[in-house]
Amino acid sequence: MKYLYSTCTTITTLSILALASFMAASAGNLNQDFDITWGDGRAKILNNGELLTLSLDKASGSGFQSKNEYLYGKIDMQLKLVAGNSAGTVTAYYLSSKGSNWDEIDFEFLGNLSGDPYILHTNVFSQGKGNREQQFYLWFDPTADFHTYSILWNPQRIVFSVDGTPIREFKNSESIGVPFPKNQPMRIYSSLWNADDWATRGGLVKTDWAQAPFTASYRNFNANACTLSSGASSCGSNSASSSSNAWLSEELDSTNQGRLKWVQTNYMIYNYCTDAKRFPQGFPSECNIA
Ligand SMILES: *[C@@H]1O[C@H](CO)[C@@H](O)[C@H](O)[C@H]1NC(C)=O
Repeated sequence: MKYLYSTCTTITTLSILALASFMAASAGNLNQDFDITWGDGRAKILNNGELLTLSLDKASGSGFQSKNEYLYGKIDMQLKLVAGNSAGTVTAYYLSSKGSNWDEIDFEFLGNLSGDPYILHTNVFSQGKGNREQQFYLWFDPTADFHTYSILWNPQRIVFSVDGTPIREFKNSESIGVPFPKNQPMRIYSSLWNADDWATRGGLVKTDWAQAPFTASYRNFNANACTLSSGASSCGSNSASSSSNAWLSEELDSTNQGRLKWVQTNYMIYNYCTDAKRFPQGFPSECNIA
């Protein structure tokens, strides 16, 4: 194909190429935002950067990470999860900083037998401390099509959303002594790996390698975010005042609070804040705020 283009270049093919590259840019190019980090060829960026796939087989999983480091952002990614019998597999999609006092914001998708629901597992770490799990079923089959998974992270709150519906809010509770992620830049990471020692029904259901390779797909990444370059934020110091950075002070309006409640009532299957057995001495402080 390359030779064809170079030998018969005309004004028309040039303008078609220009148009094609413009469209690719407007659709977002995963090559610009992400590096494949492991998996020995099992992770691929395809279709001129429009699609990324991770795969897992008996020998290895695979993963990628963002080129940028972010300090606050509103970050969307569309994922289509491993279809069929995905028991034992885990697709993790998360933000994390480095070091022993790291911060982390997690989406993890725990695979299941065909026909059984996936579990969406979430967690928030601040200063190296997590143990803040909430788990959900989804109101759709996450393997049938792409759906948008979003993280809003600003100085007041972290909101996890699915197709624009908030499923979890972690508020800044520094005023009552709970550390909040706010100083450590995070990268986006994702990986697909075998976790059949715990993922599905506590490890009872094993990965069926006859179904391998398992594949998860990603597209339409979008970040309204403050990126960091040599210590300086792209948002500058007075960013919250700019209307293009409205997400920096975004909060849940009453409609979204209602939707959050709907999800938590109907789809939440585990909440550390109600697990009295686990916290016999009392729930973590942030559980006691509204
Ligand atoms: C898999 O499906 C079963 C049956 O619906 C459910 O009990 C279990 O929690 C599901 N998910 C995982 C990750 O085990």
